[in-house]
Amino acid sequence: MTGDWLYTLPMALPAWMREGSFTGYLAAPGFLAELLAELDLEGSAGTGHLVYGDIVFACKARAAAWAQNIWLDARLLPAPSIGQGAKALREIQRNWWAHPVRLARRAALLTEKLPKVSARAQVFGQPAPSAPLGSFTLWDEATLIAAATCSSPYPDGAVRFEEDRESAPSRAYLKLWEALTLLGVMPRPGELCLDLGSSPGGWTWVLASLGARVFSVDKAELEPRIAAMPGVEHCLGSGFGLDPKIAGGPGAQVDWLCSDMACYPARLLELVSRWLEADACRNFVCTLKCQGETDHATIQAFAEIPGSKVMHLSHNKHELTWALIR
Ligand SMILES: C[S@@+](CC[C@H](N)C(=O)[O-])C[C@H]1O[C@@H](n2cnc3c(N)ncnc32)[C@H](O)[C@@H]1O
Repeated sequence: MTGDWLYTLPMALPAWMREGSFTGYLAAPGFLAELLAELDLEGSAGTGHLVYGDIVFACKARAAAWAQNIWLDARLLPAPSIGQGAKALREIQRNWWAHPVRLARRAALLTEKLPKVSARAQVFGQPAPSAPLGSFTLWDEATLIAAATCSSPYPDGAVRFEEDRESAPSRAYLKLWEALTLLGVMPRPGELCLDLGSSPGGWTWVLASLGARVFSVDKAELEPRIAAMPGVEHCLGSGFGLDPKIAGGPGAQVDWLCSDMACYPARLLELVSRWLEADACRNFVCTLKCQGETDHATIQAFAEIPGSKVMHLSHNKHELTWALIR
């Protein structure tokens, strides 16, 4: 129980929580302030909200990039004893994950009375778990807040992979693994991928390992063994120097534009807009690096690109991942 979140001692629960279902937004670790700014709950009249540890409960449901998991149908559940609490949860569904804000010992005892949730690490290339995983927290000794349906099938939205520490040249590959796993789609053998900001080569390694052709661009070199992978071509230069009308021109549409470039989100938005306008690329997976102050307006502009998604991956730091899959 560390971090920068506000600690709210139990008080009278607001009527909208007592009377029906509501939404819980679990902040990505360390990013509660970003989540609150994104939800903009103070500004919207008539919407109740309550911050409980690193969870923001609100009566309204909406997409939220800075939430690592969204509890979609949260409600109160009486739990006068540990056994009764566990029984009430089991009657709803099998799989539950405890997210204690307080009363951690009681939450652990309650978890012991629930069926075990698989602790297996995700293998890249295999689909994300399909079994629903609910989340709960204890409000007080006799009250649970529980949601059977959550946005993520992973405990607290954190994806733990069976890692490949030997072949991958940097840990950045985990971001692309996570994005592709959550999106449920992978580049296919032979597809053309641009990897902008590719050095030392983690993303290029992922794409080339899938059999895709990779045109990698960075001001720095790739690790030689990555540059030598079949299908990989590296160009020393700036990702902003590529002209989509030429690089992805007629008959040469790029299948995937991947960017992990260290650059301001506003600059990346200009680049993506040019590629979209030129209809030069089908799918996009881009890291929005929030250097310094979080640029909420630009993140919102990315989120408004039709059909796209902005998410905080569990392998993202002070950054988000924007994806458009078509
Ligand atoms: C986080 S690293 C990328 C890690 C890489 N995705 C991997 O998996 O190994 C960010 C990279 O962006 C590159 N970069 C920054 N500005 C760039 C630009 N304008 N064009 C191309 N690359 C750029 C940096 O040289 C750096 O290698």
